[in-house]
Amino acid sequence: MELKSQNDTWKPRIVAFFCNWCTYTAADLAGVSRIKHEPNVRVIRVMCSGRVDPQFVIDAFVKGADGVLIGGCHIGDCHYIDGNHKTIRRFAMLKRILKDMGIEDERFRLEWISASEGEKVKTVTNDMVEKLEKLGPLGLPKKFIAWDEEMNHLELEISKPKEEIEHV
Ligand code: FES
Repeated sequence: MELKSQNDTWKPRIVAFFCNWCTYTAADLAGVSRIKHEPNVRVIRVMCSGRVDPQFVIDAFVKGADGVLIGGCHIGDCHYIDGNHKTIRRFAMLKRILKDMGIEDERFRLEWISASEGEKVKTVTNDMVEKLEKLGPLGLPKKFIAWDEEMNHLELEISKPKEEIEHV
């Protein structure tokens, strides 16, 4: 929030992993090619939402995303039968891990959007942008620098002889 007030031109950066067969097609059909070119939304096409490895999500946050959106076929419509069932399990697991890392719920979202639901792509994306604007930048890369500094400090403290620590 603080950073946002310092810079009114700040826009949340969203990485959107869209399944080729449904959400990506929906985005195209709705003429949401504009979404693709929005400087703050980066659409990455995957063949199935189940292809989104948890590491992709973590990497997106670590590299500066303020939010990550996964769009997949509705349950029962996955072209790889149960790919999206895998997505649900991974999503639930990742939510818990991200929460432990201090990343708010609104920053990571899963939506089922079929090829004919172009409007839903817009609604979901706009809603996410709005929520992230309220939360402000995540700034994970900067947090990593702070964590590194904390760890260096801790390492230094631990490496001190025991007596020195007791007198601090
Ligand atoms: S093919 Fe779209 S979620 Fe699996």
